[in-house]
Amino acid sequence: MASTRTSTLVAPRGRWWTPLGRDEKLWFGMAVVWSIVMFVMIFFIWPAIGNEQPDFSTYRIQEADFAARTQAFIEANQTGENIGGIPVVAPEPGSDVFLMATRFQFRPILQLTVGEEYRILLSANDVQHGFSLQPDGFNLQVIPGYITEFDLTPEEAGEYQLVCNEYCGLGHHLMLGRIVVVE
Ligand code: CUA
Repeated sequence: MASTRTSTLVAPRGRWWTPLGRDEKLWFGMAVVWSIVMFVMIFFIWPAIGNEQPDFSTYRIQEADFAARTQAFIEANQTGENIGGIPVVAPEPGSDVFLMATRFQFRPILQLTVGEEYRILLSANDVQHGFSLQPDGFNLQVIPGYITEFDLTPEEAGEYQLVCNEYCGLGHHLMLGRIVVVE
């Protein structure tokens, strides 16, 4: 008696093992062309016209080491003010500036001067966080065990918000930081 049950041993109906049809060749060709276009755009066109890709480098550091350096940096440069329990720090232009993401705050609050260049050293001491500088929309990931380093030259005075845009726990939506830029 013939069985009507299907089994994985029976070849499925279809045509996937036959040569590509006209429509498949067309879609496949379009996908290949579009990936090449995107490849060229992302490495050559967008960086040239939009300055979209932040220039940064990363290297390893022990989480505890970074936390200790951040604390030493805060103690050496603190202006005495505290906003919401978070120290405000005014570092020397041209110096290394430590900024630590930790559940659920950015430490410290930075006070920078327009037109001066700072080297920002960014890391976390617990879990992965996001660094989103508003309203500029400058985004980086903050990963424990790695320093993300970039140069920052503030162009306009004002208060800039830092938003954590990587889910990091129950207080994620409250995780805000601040950079104050003065003349
Ligand atoms: Cu830190 Cu989300």
